[in-house]
Amino acid sequence: MTQTHSILVLPGDGIGPEVMAEAIKVLRAFENPECKFVLREELIGGCSIDATGKPVTDEVKQAALTSDAVLFAAVGGPKWDKARRGLDGPEGGLLQLRKAMDIYANLRPCSSHSPSSSITKEFSPFRHEVLFGPEKDATGLDGVDFVVVRENCGGAYFGKKVEDADYAMDEWGYSTAEVQRVTRVAAQVALRHTPTWPVISLDKANVLASSRLWRRVVEETMATEYPQLKLIHQLADSASLILATNPRALNGVILADNTFGDMISDQAGSIVGTLGVLPSASLNGLPGDKTLQTRPYGLYEPTHGSAPTIAGKNVANPVAMILCVALMFRYSLNMENEAQQVEDAVRRVLDKGLRTPDLGGNLGTKELGDAIVAELRL
Ligand code: NAI
Ligand code: MG
Repeated sequence: MTQTHSILVLPGDGIGPEVMAEAIKVLRAFENPECKFVLREELIGGCSIDATGKPVTDEVKQAALTSDAVLFAAVGGPKWDKARRGLDGPEGGLLQLRKAMDIYANLRPCSSHSPSSSITKEFSPFRHEVLFGPEKDATGLDGVDFVVVRENCGGAYFGKKVEDADYAMDEWGYSTAEVQRVTRVAAQVALRHTPTWPVISLDKANVLASSRLWRRVVEETMATEYPQLKLIHQLADSASLILATNPRALNGVILADNTFGDMISDQAGSIVGTLGVLPSASLNGLPGDKTLQTRPYGLYEPTHGSAPTIAGKNVANPVAMILCVALMFRYSLNMENEAQQVEDAVRRVLDKGLRTPDLGGNLGTKELGDAIVAELRL
């Protein structure tokens, strides 16, 4: 029987279309009589503003809600920067889409044996020669393996705001339901790892009321729904110290609210490598979550932007976007083996020293994409 997966493809602006084309090449390589992808390509960001006057149309939002997954590349650029801001600007397209899909959990993997580990060894501030001198061939990150799950639709970034001349205020609040649902995503991610990961929940329960609710609800949700998983509470400030000194101690799923999650995921990203190789997933839940009110939605995007100065030159690094295909296989399409095949191919290509110019190589975007497709062991 043929399984058909419907994917909404949003290349966006700048280098977006170039890196997306390589991700689609990789995706198409997995088609066979049993597995088909129906791709629908639509506009988002600046190109959508030019064509429709809006950074994302209602039709595209609807398409996102009826697809099995969304692949998004990047939006924005100097052409639209001055004229438009906030929800009307190119990035507003992404924000509106995130809201429409209610994708409240943002996942960023961080691992020393990630597909881009050879990049980590050369470029990470944690590389061994920086920490321990030049003689040993290892990194201070050896054995590090975690995923940050950041709450992405609540907390201080979305609370009430006051902005007067002499006083400003951000409301940092969480409801039980908001904490429960992101805890479930973290638990599902932990369960998918072999062996199952602990959930390490960050908060400042010693000083913040919202953190005390966070801690209590995480505790209750884990105890009643996922008693088989280990739960650790970690104060957020000490977590960032641990990440900078002994990152292995955080192996597992790091669950954090919007603010702490923003900080810890950037810190994690900076230690594993460079922007061009880091994928991320935004989810409203995973297929295993029985409490989900809707079908699970997932949007997969690289952590870099539209890099307008290098757009159209066939030099952008497509690795982050290609690794988004692996995350999509893993978290939305129930295709774990294929996810690993993509990651293994990326690993082999980078290990051979095949690189785009941002990492000191001389391959073009297309050529690196072709090399990764050629390395797939299907
Ligand atoms: P950026 O991530 O686009 O670029 C930062 C630096 O990294 C630049 O030097 C760029 O050339 C390089 N770079 C980024 N991705 C690369 C890749 N795949 N291969 C090789 N080099 C790469 O961030 P920046 O410069 O702050 O923003 C540029 C535009 O992108 C702005 O209009 C910004 O608003 C937008 N942006 C969009 C995001 C999104 O769509 N999610 C996220 C961040 C920025
Ligand atoms: Mg950030």
